[in-house]
Formats: sequence, structure tokens, C-alpha cells
Amino acid sequence: MNILILGSGGREHTLAWKLNQSPMLGKLFVAPGNAGTAEIAKNIPIGVNDFEKIKASVLQYEISMVVVGPEDPLVNGVHDFFLNDEDLRRIPVIGPQKAAATLEGSKQFAKEFMMRHAIPTAAYQSFTADTLENGYIFLESLAPPYVLKADGLAAGKGVLILNDLEEAKEELRTMLVDGKFGNASAKVVIEEFLDGIELSVFVLTDGDGYKVLPTAKDYKRIGEGDTGLNTGGMGAISPVPFADKGFMDKIHDRIVKPTVEGLKMDNLPYKGFIFIGLIKVGDDPKVIEYNVRLGDPETEAVVPRIQNDFVKLFGAVANGTLDAIDLAVDTRTAATVMMVSGGYPEAYEKGKEISGYENIQDSLVFHAGTQAKDDKVLTNGGRVMAITSFGADFKKALSKSYENIEKVGFSGKNYRKDIGFDL
Ligand code: AMP
Ligand code: GLY
Repeated sequence: MNILILGSGGREHTLAWKLNQSPMLGKLFVAPGNAGTAEIAKNIPIGVNDFEKIKASVLQYEISMVVVGPEDPLVNGVHDFFLNDEDLRRIPVIGPQKAAATLEGSKQFAKEFMMRHAIPTAAYQSFTADTLENGYIFLESLAPPYVLKADGLAAGKGVLILNDLEEAKEELRTMLVDGKFGNASAKVVIEEFLDGIELSVFVLTDGDGYKVLPTAKDYKRIGEGDTGLNTGGMGAISPVPFADKGFMDKIHDRIVKPTVEGLKMDNLPYKGFIFIGLIKVGDDPKVIEYNVRLGDPETEAVVPRIQNDFVKLFGAVANGTLDAIDLAVDTRTAATVMMVSGGYPEAYEKGKEISGYENIQDSLVFHAGTQAKDDKVLTNGGRVMAITSFGADFKKALSKSYENIEKVGFSGKNYRKDIGFDL
């Protein structure tokens, strides 16, 4: 079976690495991919939102399954595009249809979904430019910090957390009236602030049956001690030590099960990954957000721990037979550390030569923003490359990742040296 993965980051390299281990795989394609995927698959230089070119490649290369990495094409309806096309209809797409992808595409839609299905989350109200004054009144009724969320997709930048009431009011105005995040902030959700430690839970569903994948914790801020600007993610650890059986049972009973059942009840077809961003408040899990894909860099820590054949697993998602599969998970901890370009997440340079990663033997190397040029591998993004290691506990796994990260060189290389500091 020939498979196409859409995307170009560390998540997609990890999925390619995993699929590549299956004896059921024919040829593997990644669009557009990176220098890491080019080593194990054929990269196709087309964008993830260029549906017509994706169609042409799927037909040309006789692809019989498409796995979607990022949210953008899902929210734009790539799955629906396949279902509505006579030539593509029979080709399964791993990733939800547009209607269900709105769980990530609109914060308000996600909030209403959670309310409808009694899934625990922060109290909220949403506002538009017409109801700005009501937004001010709602902010005055809350205690700081104030959480403002652009309703739509804003490349991970749409959430603001502010301590000062006047500043919160001004930001609300800037989002609604000045279009701070363009159309994405034409509507803003204001939420109760939840205080606790975060974790990510991933669910794979065929729309009926589902598997809860290993938990992970990601480190989003650029600076040590979780300070500074938000990034795509600087590192991840799986499993999360504080997510014990009792806590996981609560997550399952109060959140995972009602989410999958709610999707069915609301007629939102879903074949793919659900990423549930959670926060532990006291002893109870609450949902911060849904994403309709795997997380990055959580994937780099979670997927290597899953021992199942992913071609088989995705086949079961496509056929609706996921219930018949048992998930096998490596009990060791996996720790991922991301190397980034100097300056990221603000302005940074690309095109720096990367050396030394090929000498790493006892860790996994997943490319993110890299590009092959002539005989060289060059940096091509903010997040450049991830190192994942296994260990008996997260400290042992991390120390191996940190040891190997020293072997990789590129001008401006930066990474967080305190992944796992809060565990
Ligand atoms: P999101 O883009 O929805 O993942 O939000 C970005 C980050 O903002 C989350 O990872 C949390 O750290 C934080 N956050 C979002 N919502 C809340 C909330 N209601 N209370 C506290 N922190 C939050
Ligand atoms: N690591 C967070 C995300 O993928 O959204």
C-alpha cells in the first residue's frame, strides 16, 4: 500500500519513520516533507493546502491512504475534498472532516461542544466588536489573570494571558476592532483562568471505537523555567509521571468517552487523532483546548513508544475496526528535546549547515525545519531538529538526549536545557 503524509515537521518525520517500519507499506510519500523524510520517503514539493495538486499526486503515484499531519488542510476540508471527488472517494484520509475539524478551527465551537456534552472546561463567554462593552463588563467580573482567545486559527499565537484589567480591555479591543489576528479574532472567547499543571492526551478514533495513546507533556515557552514567548514546542516527555491510573480514569470517563460519543451524537464524522490539551486543577482534569491532529513535539515522544504497526492501525481507523486492535506501549519513558534557530520564535535566519547528527546512534533524530541542498542539510525553519531518547525514567531519557544534542552543530543552535524541570 502506498501512503502519502501531508506536512513537513518533526511530527511528519516521526510518522514517516514509524510507517516505514511496516512490512505492509509499499512506497511512502511526504508532501512537502523535509531533509529527514527525504532519507526514507519520496518528498513531493507541493503545499498541504493545494488540494488539486495533492489529487494529481495521489493518482500519479497510486496512493491508497493519506495521513494528514497539520490542522490547516483539515480545517480547510481536505477530507471532504476526497469524499466529494469521484476519483478520490475510495482513498481513506486519516484526519477528520471539516465539520469536526472546527473543534480546533473555532474556540467557541469547541466550548459549545463541551457544554453540550458536560465535558469539564473553564467557564467562558464570547464577544464580537458589536458586544465589546459587554466584554469589558465580563472582564470586570473576573479575577486576574485574564485569558483572551481568538476564536479562529492564529498559528498558535491567538491566546493572551494578562494580569492587568486595563491591559486586558485594551487587548480585547485590539483583537475585536483592530483585527489583531485578522479574521481569527473577529470573535474572542474570554475564559476563567485555570491554575494547574498541563498535559496532552491523544486519542485515535475510527468514529466509533477509540484508543487512548500515551500521555505527554510539552514545553511551549522559549525560555527556561517556562518563561518568554510561546513557540511550537521545545521538548516533550512521555508518559507524564503524575498521570497515574486514578487520574487517567477520570480523563477517560469525564473527557475522552464523552468526546467520542459527543462527536457521534452531533453527527461529526471523525477518523483520526484527537489532541486534548488538559490542565490538572486540584485532582481534576479540565480541557483547555481540542486539536484535531497530533501535537508537535509530543509526537516525537509518543509515537516511538507505540509498538503497533501503524499501517495496520491506520487501516483499522479507515475500516472502522479499531476496537479489534490492542495497543502495545513501551513502558520506558521517551524524552524529546528540540533544537531551534537562534532568534526563534522571533526573526531568525535559515540556510545554516547542520553537522554531526548522523553520528548519533543511541537516540532517534527527527528533522523538523531542514532542507537537503546538494550534499548538505540546511536549517529551514524555527524548529530545526528533535532528539528523542528512551530511559527507565524521564531523567535518564533526558540525559541521553542532552548528551547527543551536543553532537549536532549549526550556527545559532538553541535549545532548552530544563525540559522536565516541573515534574
Ligand atoms: P492554546 O493555544 O489554547 O493551547 O493556549 C495556549 C496556552 O495558554 C495553553 O497551553 C495554556 O498554557 C494557556 N491557557 C489557555 N487557556 C487557559 C486557561 N483557561 N487557564 C490557564 N491557562 C490557559
Ligand atoms: N505542541 C503543541 C501543539 O502541537 O499544538
